[in-house]
Amino acid sequence: MMEHWDSLIILSLFGLLFKICGSMAVPESRPNVLLIMADDLGIGDLGCFGNVTLRTPNIDSLCKEGIKLTQHISAESLCTPSRSAFLTGRYPVRTGMVSRNGIRSHGIINSLGVSGGLPRNETTFAATLKKYGYRTALIGKWHQGLNCKYRNDHCHHPKHYGFDYFYGMPFTLFYSCVPDPSCDTELAIAKKLWLCMELIIIAVLTLTVGKLTHLVSIPWLFIICIILFGFLLAFSWFCSFQNDMYWDCILMRQHEITEQPMKAERASLIMLKEAVSFIERNQDKPFLLFYSLLHVHTPLPTTNEFVGSSKHSFYGDFVEEMDFLVGKILDAIDENGLKNNTIVYFTSDHGGHLEVMRGRLHIGGYNGIYKGGKGMAGWEGGIRVPGIVRWPGILPAGKVIEEPTSLMDIYPTLTALVGATLPQDRVIDGRDLMPLLKGDVQHSEHEFLYHYCGPFLHAVRWHPRNSDAVWKVHYVTPIFQPTGAIGCHDALYGICPCEGENVTHHDPPLLFELSRDPSESKPLSPDNEPSYDTVIKRVKKAVKKHQKTLTPVPEQLTLYNKDHIWLKPCCGVFPFCLCDKETGKFTL
Ligand SMILES: *[C@@H]1O[C@H](CO)[C@@H](O)[C@H](O)[C@H]1NC(C)=O
Ligand SMILES: *[C@@H]1O[C@H](CO)[C@@H](O)[C@H](O)[C@H]1NC(C)=O
Repeated sequence: MMEHWDSLIILSLFGLLFKICGSMAVPESRPNVLLIMADDLGIGDLGCFGNVTLRTPNIDSLCKEGIKLTQHISAESLCTPSRSAFLTGRYPVRTGMVSRNGIRSHGIINSLGVSGGLPRNETTFAATLKKYGYRTALIGKWHQGLNCKYRNDHCHHPKHYGFDYFYGMPFTLFYSCVPDPSCDTELAIAKKLWLCMELIIIAVLTLTVGKLTHLVSIPWLFIICIILFGFLLAFSWFCSFQNDMYWDCILMRQHEITEQPMKAERASLIMLKEAVSFIERNQDKPFLLFYSLLHVHTPLPTTNEFVGSSKHSFYGDFVEEMDFLVGKILDAIDENGLKNNTIVYFTSDHGGHLEVMRGRLHIGGYNGIYKGGKGMAGWEGGIRVPGIVRWPGILPAGKVIEEPTSLMDIYPTLTALVGATLPQDRVIDGRDLMPLLKGDVQHSEHEFLYHYCGPFLHAVRWHPRNSDAVWKVHYVTPIFQPTGAIGCHDALYGICPCEGENVTHHDPPLLFELSRDPSESKPLSPDNEPSYDTVIKRVKKAVKKHQKTLTPVPEQLTLYNKDHIWLKPCCGVFPFCLCDKETGKFTL
């Protein structure tokens, strides 16, 4: 009996020890990962990055509790390529997420009817973490393609890139997504119309069979008229859906279309609910949640609660709503007791869009002291974005790191975190951020960063290993139009082109030193900068070396960026594509 008790006690002691060690090991080695990415948010829009009039208290407290990265650089100044680099840790030229076509709108996946997308042989941080036992989800914007050959092949669906769960927009928010449709009438008509079509088909078949078997005697013309009438109905229905809203502003849960078209204001509320419930469902396992906000892309579909809340009109209201959503997600982390065991990262895919106007009002974000914005390749305002990392107890609170870091660093950082190795068959351009974040090293591993516009190299940043200087060399810059403007207001979609007659090639190149002149306002020359020649030479050498590491890959956005109606997702029977499957009430 005694022996029995002994062994029981020993066993339970062991169990306890195991439990303690186990739970101690968990936070350090397998924390949850919450990545929050804003869309088109300018670095000057956040309180903790210097904005005094826009209120972003939740993001500000994330700054206070975590590390602020002040020189956090995106690989491109447009959504699709920047996001592909974020997911894979590789420059978009390596993955083919670029377009040689001069039209800048081809620099992104420009509808759900195109067949391009992130190549399936690329590896994302989600795929790596999934392999290491994480539950992974993408909630929000994807914008890396959807179909290849058929309407429903979903060959570029997030699930093929390591995400177990997807809820959100396979495309992106854009102008056509508002006015918010209350499609109840259309939904009702669609159902009736489809019934109508079925009746027509049955009638035509019956009459044809009847006629052929001489059971009915009606003229062929009559049958043809019915067929034509059917076509007319279908065609007029189809035409009413020419608006991109019906085809591209849709929401999906996993493979199912839940709203077509979506209700833009409500979408973010459902996303919030989805994200919170994912956190709750997975509080016992390590998880990766990529919360990819629709905020603060135009057309700024703000809920009533936030309309008029800010001092900065529509745009400011939308930023404040975004901050509120971020706060809710952070609350969910707190309330589930996951705060110390979760790495939280916040960023924006690129800088604010300077050319966006509503009437005469600029509604496109503020890039602080930095020149340029979204779609302007090398200029700092398009690529320098807010970066915040919080991991209580492991990373110091309130620290500021001014060294160059990149959105591409997230992939190698997470890979190292779970003890995985980076793929050896390809170049990874990001670097593990942990040593810098923890303070084990003081100097960034990014000696050079290359600033591309599509496949064209526009500028290079050099942070020499033995100095604090950050040199920036521009080979090509966009020509701002109209003259005197701070962006390409005259260009198509207000996005600067990458090549052609609307860019300036600089020979000799423009040189700036960012730690002295962060606004890139006074180009240096051999006359006022003794190291001008040395810097230009050194950077040129680096560019040559970098270019040798590039291999030609199929360009996803050049040829494939054509809109095909047969690739457009359809909820229903094409072309009767309408649905609204969200039944709950969604309020803030
Ligand atoms: C704060 O952000 C708004 C909206 O982008 C901008 O108009 C304003 O200039 C910014 N203010 C400061 C002080 O940075
Ligand atoms: C993926 O496939 C393409 C096309 O076959 C190829 O060019 C590219 O090198 C591959 N990428 C990787 C990372 O293997």
